[in-house]
Amino acid sequence: MTPVPLPFFDPPAAREAKPSFDLLPPEMRQKIEARLSGEIISGEVVYGSLSSSAGYVLTFDSGLKVFAKGSHPDEMSHGTLHIRQEIRAYEYVPVLKETSPRLYSWVSDNNEDGWTLGLWSFIAQDDSADFAQRVSGVMALVAQVHGAAVPEGIVPDARAHNYIGAFLADEKKWRRIEAEASIRAKFLNLFEDPAAAQAWLGRNIAALIALQADAAVRVFTQGLIHGDLRTDNILFDKDRSWLVDWPNACMGPRTFDLVMLFTHLESTGFGAAENFLPLYDAAAGTRFATSEIDEIATMAGSMAGYFADQAYRGVPEKLPRLRWMQKSLLCAQLQLLARLGRIESPPRFSGQRDI
Ligand SMILES: Nc1ncnc2c1ncn2[C@@H]1O[C@H](COP(=O)(O)OP(=O)(O)OP(=O)(O)O)[C@@H](O)[C@H]1O
Ligand SMILES: [Mg+2]
Repeated sequence: MTPVPLPFFDPPAAREAKPSFDLLPPEMRQKIEARLSGEIISGEVVYGSLSSSAGYVLTFDSGLKVFAKGSHPDEMSHGTLHIRQEIRAYEYVPVLKETSPRLYSWVSDNNEDGWTLGLWSFIAQDDSADFAQRVSGVMALVAQVHGAAVPEGIVPDARAHNYIGAFLADEKKWRRIEAEASIRAKFLNLFEDPAAAQAWLGRNIAALIALQADAAVRVFTQGLIHGDLRTDNILFDKDRSWLVDWPNACMGPRTFDLVMLFTHLESTGFGAAENFLPLYDAAAGTRFATSEIDEIATMAGSMAGYFADQAYRGVPEKLPRLRWMQKSLLCAQLQLLARLGRIESPPRFSGQRDI
């Protein structure tokens, strides 16, 4: 067994505010039971990484286990939109039938601010699964998604996507940190020594802005992208790996997924992000590790700008781990850019562990 890797930053102890199973209205429970022809004998809350969406493992009288996830009335806005987008992807993007758990059905109270739940086959996670041993299977899945055909009009283009678009536009992000002194001060406070960070930023902000500007115009290698590819959205059962959590699926830069996943791996202690590029290239037939490395740098620069302009903000009450995740990804993306020779090595963030 490989030792458990240590992250850059320890996660906050608090978890997301998710509705308990008791809060599921009886009508919703009945709809689920009718749809799956059985009686629910128990339901337990399941946590993901960040969101306050409803998530349950439901056990039926037949022994069937189902993963139910979606919106609920106590959530921040857009919950219903997200689950509807995800269900649409599961229904109409053929590759998800191979890469992801089966969507059995979905149920709704037909209220835009109410309950809508997707119902998926339950993946019994193999707790002994080791990412290092599963990595080639994961790369094959990601490459399969990126190369998949998608029917017209099912998923948006990344640049027009309400969330992903912000990562690619040359707006705010590093430009905001440069232009607005009060924002910059908050950003610099993320570091152990804000004065050292200020000096570092002064020497590197032009390069960071140039990367962000390039992301807005560059013709990236495209594909169907997941849009939130972190390790918590990859499940391992004893036989294989699965990709879950698809509300952000869109047509866009493959490097969006690659930079996100590989810097997430780096931030959680799995080694340098770029070490994963040859493994993806081998699965996908691309050359991101070599001749197309600029695509990686551009994406890392622009994505880091997004997280730099988020990570300093207040912690939303229902989402205690959001800023921690953003800071972790930002830290790994800056280190990646330094190793790629695009910026100077960043100073330490406060609370950063040497890994
Ligand atoms: N089919 C499944 N079977 C078993 N567990 C699952 C299944 N799908 C998801 N999970 C577990 O539930 C968690 C939350 O699911 P998912 O990521 O889809 O939801 P989410 O509410 O969008 O959460 P977040 O945004 O917080 O990651 C996953 O991280 C995973 O641990
Ligand atoms: Mg998730």
